[in-house]
Amino acid sequence: MKKLILGMIVCSAFMVSCGPKSVAVTGPKYSSSEQLAQGKTVFENSCNKCHKLPDPAKHDNNGWIKTLSRMAPKAKLSDDQHQMVYDYLISVNKK
Ligand code: HEC
Repeated sequence: MKKLILGMIVCSAFMVSCGPKSVAVTGPKYSSSEQLAQGKTVFENSCNKCHKLPDPAKHDNNGWIKTLSRMAPKAKLSDDQHQMVYDYLISVNKK
């Protein structure tokens, strides 16, 4: 019985930490040309409001995870837009 309760606690803690609210972009997800094109559009429309559009080659795949996690909230991107912009950037950064 103790094991069962402990298991339930561990389980629910896991579910909270992995709930839909906390999805962050940690790697590639989309690869269809349609989604990459959408990512490009979001990038071109949302990322030049405060500064010039950055060069996608500025960062490697890991670098964009970090930079986008700071910039996506500034650009008020949804999680999905954040993901599509990331996938677009790493599809063209040639790194
Ligand atoms: C609300 C304003 C704003 C928006 C929108 C915005 N940025 Fe930025 N960005 C900044 C500011 C301010 C800096 C400089 C300070 C810093 O680096 O945090 C910056 C710096 C950067 C840098 C240079 C620093 C680095 O880590 O290389 C890159 C690249 C960048 N932004 C990419 C983006 C991308 C991609 C988007 C679209 C998702 C975006 N930004 C949208 C304000 C914004």
